Amino acid sequence: MALDLIIRNGTLVSATDRHVADIGISDGRITAIEAAGTLTAAAEVIEAGRLHVLPGLIDEHVHFRQPGFEAEEDWLTGSRAAVMGGVTTVLEMPNTVPPTGSVATARQKLALAAERSLCDFGIYGLAGESVEAVAGLIGSGLIVGLKVFLGPTTGGHRAPDDDVLRHLLELARAADLRVGFHAEDESLLRVAEARLRTAGRTDARAHLESRPIAAEVAAIDHAGQLLRETGAPGHVFHLTSLEGLAAVGRWRAAGVDLTCEATPHHLLLGLGVYERQGGLARVNPPIRGEPHSAALLAALADGRIDCLGSDHAPHLAEAKHAASIWDVPGGFAGVETLLPLLLTEVHEGRLTLERLVSVTSERPAHAWKLWPRKGAVVEGADADLTLVDLQRPGVVHSADLHGKNNVSPFEGRPTVGAPVATVVRGRIVMRDGELLGRPGWGRAVNDEKDQARPSV
Ligand code: NCD
Ligand code: ZN
Ligand code: ZN
Repeated sequence: MALDLIIRNGTLVSATDRHVADIGISDGRITAIEAAGTLTAAAEVIEAGRLHVLPGLIDEHVHFRQPGFEAEEDWLTGSRAAVMGGVTTVLEMPNTVPPTGSVATARQKLALAAERSLCDFGIYGLAGESVEAVAGLIGSGLIVGLKVFLGPTTGGHRAPDDDVLRHLLELARAADLRVGFHAEDESLLRVAEARLRTAGRTDARAHLESRPIAAEVAAIDHAGQLLRETGAPGHVFHLTSLEGLAAVGRWRAAGVDLTCEATPHHLLLGLGVYERQGGLARVNPPIRGEPHSAALLAALADGRIDCLGSDHAPHLAEAKHAASIWDVPGGFAGVETLLPLLLTEVHEGRLTLERLVSVTSERPAHAWKLWPRKGAVVEGADADLTLVDLQRPGVVHSADLHGKNNVSPFEGRPTVGAPVATVVRGRIVMRDGELLGRPGWGRAVNDEKDQARPSV
């Protein structure tokens, strides 16, 4: 078969090893992986001799805000930031307006994304109050997983009562759909926040104090209990603490299929961010600094944490600068900075490139049932590739980012290592910092028109 694209002489990195190879691509698929220097004829060739070739990054946690909050982000601008940052697939959260809690709203969001996205995408369904609506969604094949908000965050969604949740988890188990949790216990947060407000606190650190570690542990235990009762596979999003990590370990030891995620801000930022950046650093759950960040990074490096997600959650810049911390919405941009920030950790020797591949492609692909079409560089897989230069220096500047609202708590942070090309299903969508993709190229990961899988 004639090749459309060859990536020549790059160091191909998987979760377990690396070797120099040529990769041949036709019709959006990887069709050849051969000894370096052996593939020659193609319409286009990328000489990757100095570069490392990673399976395209899957960011399992983004909020692209459309429909409902298009002033903050939309599928075009969010996916543009993604591909500029080396991300080829995003999994998008359901706290939009309308929330993604039914077949109709899922179809609406998938249509918006298909029209505008530059990268591939999957969406989560919201485990809301209407069992019938969510039940239909669970069986529809339109979502990659379910999201449960156990604690309050953007969108104000509340967890359904336990009996409803139990029923939804049983349905999810039957459909073999993983259920992810925003793990903060609502009542503990309410008590802590009321106390701080009464004391007149409006400073940034009050946010941290208002969301104690005990609330994370209580919510993980709540989720773990329901998952054990129902047998559904679960996932903890944006884990923040040593104690939370230990709780995940306990439920795993009890036999629960429980995966978990860490974000760059919980792994890399210290408490100084509250003094440096003020309320801008507000995010749910909060940044806790040491010793939690180092413990989470160690757990990412040794495999206890499965996935790295950005929790890309943009808000209008003026909202992020409100005077009182209680008026600042939680979250900030992150999809474009995830890879350079973590490549810097690789450069510093705190994480191997193989582990980075594991948590940004292989494990999320397994967790959300995208593997091996996504998450692996094998013949027959989608030709999603991220080419990185491990030595390239940079500095995070929100003015250089490509989303709609790019406020970042990493502003001014130096990085070493950067994506230099992003390939989505065989098409080069970013090269040397230049955007080459077009809106509408992105496709749903569970698109029925394209279900053929590699036979590995
Ligand atoms: C997220 C948002 O703004 O949608 N905010 C946040 O602080 N992380 C919601 C969430 O992931 O909890
Ligand atoms: Zn959350
Ligand atoms: Zn989130």
